[in-house]
Amino acid sequence: MNIGKILIEADEIESKLAEMGKAITEDYESKDLLMVGILKGAFVVMADLSRQIDLPLEFDFMAVSSYGASTKTSGVVRILKDLDEEIEGRDVLIVEDIIDSGLTLNYLMKNLLVRKPATLEIAALLIKDGIERLPLDVKYEGFHIPPEFVIGYGLDYAGKYRNLPYVAVMGDEE
Ligand code: IMP
Ligand code: MG
Repeated sequence: MNIGKILIEADEIESKLAEMGKAITEDYESKDLLMVGILKGAFVVMADLSRQIDLPLEFDFMAVSSYGASTKTSGVVRILKDLDEEIEGRDVLIVEDIIDSGLTLNYLMKNLLVRKPATLEIAALLIKDGIERLPLDVKYEGFHIPPEFVIGYGLDYAGKYRNLPYVAVMGDEE
């Protein structure tokens, strides 16, 4: 596999995250914002989005696995690392790199709601269009992309390419 066509350039991502950060700053002005990044993919979005938010926020992370080394979801979500913090009464914003089937976030929303946060919202950089998805209310969204497997900006294929500063589709096998 190699890197295919670039779908979203680094500077487009940067200005989108600035917009999202501005909206989040306004919405969470008088709240107690806890950003929860879903590892590993969301660590890049988390770093860049959070620096566009002008509030005294806090970070936590969860790690889940739904894919293994395949490009298709396995249908099973496993929690590999849970939150460090209690979230009861907190204003929790889940940060995701991409929403595909919605399975991961659908599971996580249910799992986190049981812990009684004051509010629970989702920010996702990418949303795949044209696929059947579980219903999800995504408050802050970046880009809609076609239903192709993408890499870069935190997104991997078999663990690689997360460090690309742009989002690209996978290329053909050489
Ligand atoms: P979902 O549960 O099907 O919505 O998938 C969400 C997770 O699958 C994301 O957090 C990613 O880790 C991974 N994923 C989905 N689509 C892609 C892709 O195109 N490239 C890389 N990872 C993906
Ligand atoms: Mg992920």
